Amino acid sequence: MNDRYIRVDGLGFRYQDGTEALSGVDLTIGSNEFVALIGQNGSGKTTLSKCLNGLLKPSAGQVIVDGLDSRSTSIVQMVKRVGYVFQNPDHQLFNGNCWDEIAYGPRNIELPEAEVKERVEEAASVVGLPTSSFSEHPFFLSKGMRQRVAIAAILALRPQVIIVDEPTTGQDTRQSIEIMEFLVMLHRQHDHTVIIVTHDMDIVARYADRVIAMAGGRVLGDAPPAELFSDRAVLEATFIEPPQATRLALRLEDCGISSGVLSATDLLAQISR
Ligand SMILES: Nc1ncnc2c1ncn2[C@@H]1O[C@H](COP(=O)(O)OP(=O)(O)O)[C@@H](O)[C@H]1O
Ligand SMILES: [Mg+2]
Repeated sequence: MNDRYIRVDGLGFRYQDGTEALSGVDLTIGSNEFVALIGQNGSGKTTLSKCLNGLLKPSAGQVIVDGLDSRSTSIVQMVKRVGYVFQNPDHQLFNGNCWDEIAYGPRNIELPEAEVKERVEEAASVVGLPTSSFSEHPFFLSKGMRQRVAIAAILALRPQVIIVDEPTTGQDTRQSIEIMEFLVMLHRQHDHTVIIVTHDMDIVARYADRVIAMAGGRVLGDAPPAELFSDRAVLEATFIEPPQATRLALRLEDCGISSGVLSATDLLAQISR
């Protein structure tokens, strides 16, 4: 594992209308991590994600991926390393059938058609998309399936890092767990770094090894979930509500419960000690 696969130094980003969406962001992200990126709406999560994969170029500072500076590297070279799955798959999917959708990236980087075919089949099988769906229009699939097609389209480029923007928003609990288990599988079995952008703190507590908390275009916290959720200063500055069990433990600190509780099970373990 390369623990400095992505290096972000003094990153600032300003949109054309003058909105300063990021400022002074410093980060390093390794090649095999499971990271949650959290923060209120408008805190800069999507902008940062797009800077990490080169869709947006820094207005200040730099983003170095696998030794390449995003400002002087073609988008093709960037997306081969960092894939970004849009928050709404419908903003990403635009081809008439699932096969063409997944093949779009590999074709765009001008791979020979035989390799395109191999990559599409591999990506579809990783996300569990049956070959019978290849000729279907993504529009006729469920939202969960469309999201898988969107992820497969990114996987077909075989990026080391996969950023998934709000994968569970608008999905029910069962679908959310399915998506998360699938991302865990990509992380564990295929050694990808997975970065999820999410508002669901229970998901953060359950799946992420590291949490990056943003507010006002800055990174205000960067720590394992148990540590971050018990840092009152960060919670206050980022308006983040930790999971219920953590909130309860924070209240119970005076009674001898230590912080670092992520679930009811953790809390019960401490009480019965
Ligand atoms: N295309 C855009 N043009 C101008 N401002 C934008 C654009 N996209 C996002 N912003 C602004 O940049 C800031 C960060 O937005 P964003 O990165 O989308 O945050 P998040 O993903 O955390 O909700 C917000 O103030 C938002 O209004
Ligand atoms: Mg966003």
